[in-house]
Amino acid sequence: MDRWKSSEIREAFLSFFEKKGHTRVRSSSLVPKNDPTLLFTNAGMVQFKDYFLGKEKPPFKRATSCQKCMRAGGKHNDLENVGKTGRHHTFFEMLGNFSFGDYFKREAIEFAWELVTKVFELPEERLYVSVYEKDDEAFEIWSKVVGIPESKIYRLGEKDNFWAMGDTGPCGPCSEIYYDRGEEFACGPNCGIGKCDCDRYLEIWNLVFMQYERDERGNFRPLARPSIDTGMGLERIASVLQGVPSNYETDLLFPLVKFASELSRKEYGKEEKSDVSMRVIADHLRATAFLIADGVLPSNEGRGYVLRRIIRRASRHGRLLGIDGAFLYKGVGRVIELMGDVYPELVENRELIEKVTRKEEERFSKTLEKGLFILQEIVESLKAEGKDTIPGEEVFRLYDTFGFPLDLVMEVASDENLKVDIEGYEKLLEKQKQRARKAWKGGIQRVVSSELQELSDKFPTLFTGYEHLEEYARVVAILKDGELVDELREGERGTVILDRTPFYPEKGGQVGDTGIIEGNSCYCLVEDTQNLTENLIGHETLVKKGVLRKGEFVTASVDENRRKAIMRAHTATHLLHKALREVLGNHVKQAGSLVLPDRLRFDFTHFEAPSDEELRRVEELVYRWVLDNYPVTVEEMSYEEALDRGAIALFGEKYGERVRVVDVGGVSIELCGGTHVERSGDIGFFKLVSESSISSGTRRVEAVVGLEAQRWVFEKEALIKEISREVQVPENRLMEKVVRLKEELKEKEREVERLQRKLASSSVDALIGEAPEINGVRVVTAKLDGFRNRELVEIADAIRNKVKPSAVLLVGLKDGKAGIVIALTKDLTEKFNAGKILGEIAPILGGRGGGRPDLAQGGVKDLSRLKEAFEKFRALFSR
Ligand code: ALA
Repeated sequence: MDRWKSSEIREAFLSFFEKKGHTRVRSSSLVPKNDPTLLFTNAGMVQFKDYFLGKEKPPFKRATSCQKCMRAGGKHNDLENVGKTGRHHTFFEMLGNFSFGDYFKREAIEFAWELVTKVFELPEERLYVSVYEKDDEAFEIWSKVVGIPESKIYRLGEKDNFWAMGDTGPCGPCSEIYYDRGEEFACGPNCGIGKCDCDRYLEIWNLVFMQYERDERGNFRPLARPSIDTGMGLERIASVLQGVPSNYETDLLFPLVKFASELSRKEYGKEEKSDVSMRVIADHLRATAFLIADGVLPSNEGRGYVLRRIIRRASRHGRLLGIDGAFLYKGVGRVIELMGDVYPELVENRELIEKVTRKEEERFSKTLEKGLFILQEIVESLKAEGKDTIPGEEVFRLYDTFGFPLDLVMEVASDENLKVDIEGYEKLLEKQKQRARKAWKGGIQRVVSSELQELSDKFPTLFTGYEHLEEYARVVAILKDGELVDELREGERGTVILDRTPFYPEKGGQVGDTGIIEGNSCYCLVEDTQNLTENLIGHETLVKKGVLRKGEFVTASVDENRRKAIMRAHTATHLLHKALREVLGNHVKQAGSLVLPDRLRFDFTHFEAPSDEELRRVEELVYRWVLDNYPVTVEEMSYEEALDRGAIALFGEKYGERVRVVDVGGVSIELCGGTHVERSGDIGFFKLVSESSISSGTRRVEAVVGLEAQRWVFEKEALIKEISREVQVPENRLMEKVVRLKEELKEKEREVERLQRKLASSSVDALIGEAPEINGVRVVTAKLDGFRNRELVEIADAIRNKVKPSAVLLVGLKDGKAGIVIALTKDLTEKFNAGKILGEIAPILGGRGGGRPDLAQGGVKDLSRLKEAFEKFRALFSR
């Protein structure tokens, strides 16, 4: 069967379905477009979801594709199984055929059978099928139409034969085709379809009969038109057609297994433990390359976190194999060579993929070092306390903050004869996973009372603020302390809802407008504007004079100067986004933004700190576009049209049918609901003022425009002037002056040190002179103000050099800190130990410390029992 290369299998599948009237569709990105409910594209049907749900009209009734998929996190998660079996992956390719309300069960089954038996020529006696237990129709088709003996058709429950994309969305009963690889693969006497999960009966094809949509509450709603979605894992069918024992020996993955095997100089297939590591590396290399190519960068949350875990896990398995240093970045190169012709995005992003992988590997090895250091501290303190188990919380903390893996903790623990509280660790891990799942599903949903919902349906606020800054409007409702009220009196605050308003509610990073509402008998300040529901705009209002009543007509005017400043900042944000992409690369994605009057903050994905030179180029580019004075146009169009025009859509954002496209002279085209200036020149002046990291993989820049930019420059200028006055040199000689001042300071410090040393040596003679001789040993004890330990040691050395044998105890006090030093001449160390003596004396002074037999030092806190300490020291020698 060796004629089936994986590329031939792909092609045979797609062209088979093309001949059956299906349109061949390219794989979509691993990051699902327009669908924040899903972590990754996890099946071929994801890009067609809205066709199944009837939300969008498909341009074709039948389609076929080979789709890049990731199953790591979310509902379909195979991450933990990768490596342990020969058939699980994070990244894999799924072949599929789809019918959007066209053919249904019968054709789907017939097509599948024809392809499997006639094209792939799999022997019928090796094939088995399963259907959903209640699906008599599918059972009949397999037995009557296809002619499969009933004994080879299994009826299975929901777990096996009901497929859903996620917790919500399209779903339905399914039917699977199995390939029996023969008895030698059986797991035991209980081996069988629906009974075990071993490698004998391979599920090679899943046919889903899409019939329902599941909503957030778990209710099923029948789809208008039942559809077909099928999925065949390319790696699995390749293992069958190439007659190899696992997916990892197919031409898709074996070159990557070999990569790991060559680097580690370990043979594949010799030892299970290293085989697992090689499989993990092979799988994760593909996931890493493909994720980065699709714009995911390592970070601490969501998709980026999955990528981070994958890279770290692969790197860890490299260490287990004995591979030193960063190596994955070379492996992703192999992936690109292997798959770049089918997936050109790999080749286009080669540099980025290699760079990001390498950075993350290096970061991880630093992390490991830090983790090992901390673990060592934990081990020592456990031993000191006489405990024998590393607590679960510590293991979890190491994992959570440093990504430090459990197996490494266990290794260290076994070297140190300690146990590990694995159960405690796993409990905490599970808790965290639940939190993560919640956070992903969640999204904050405003709780709306039924009254507000009714208002929102009946009187959606008309927003007129793109064209107008003033509006004559009716007060539709007033909220005070969460209750609907009829009026707001002088001095009271509440939320005012108008039938129409020019006030922009905070949205898309742009802050809400402020301004004034004036009625017949009232004057009110609007302090903020927020969306209460999707359709209702609320004005946070303070009544300054009179009474504001429900039902009355008012004039609502936005603070024009402030709004104009916000518009300058918003248009500048778009230009900045574009400039960052031009200078740093197209992987830069907006991760958040805040648009304030003449100020803005922009968070974006990037794997390292931009250099000063890069930032300068970004700033210059934006400013150049400002000077070019491009017109800013705003147009509504369909989402598809917008993407065709090259508009940048925000990652994970949900857009409606019609979108608003803001175009700054063709330089920047973005989907955006915000308010903008008319020409880029209106921005005035643009200045970047800061750059920082907010989490790994995410950077933040802040900028000022218009009047704020002028103010910023003025302040800097004033600062320089002030400094120049203070140090009394003209501005152009400031730098020179600072350098000189630093040198002078250093010189002075050296002088002080020299004088101190002189002082110390002159006190040496005095100290010796006052010291008693006890049993032939000169015992010096003294408290010296103004000296640190470093200097005390010098004095003690000077004494030891002058008199032998001598024993010295010095306590020093400087800047409110007390230190202690004990020194003995070498000839005394046979009988005495300075470290041990310190251990006895320091506690008298509320301190501790340690050291060598001839010299020890430490810190003390309480000098009230100094006399007692000195006496104890002298007593040691009088015995
Ligand atoms: N969407 C189905 C699956 O992933 C075909 O198994």
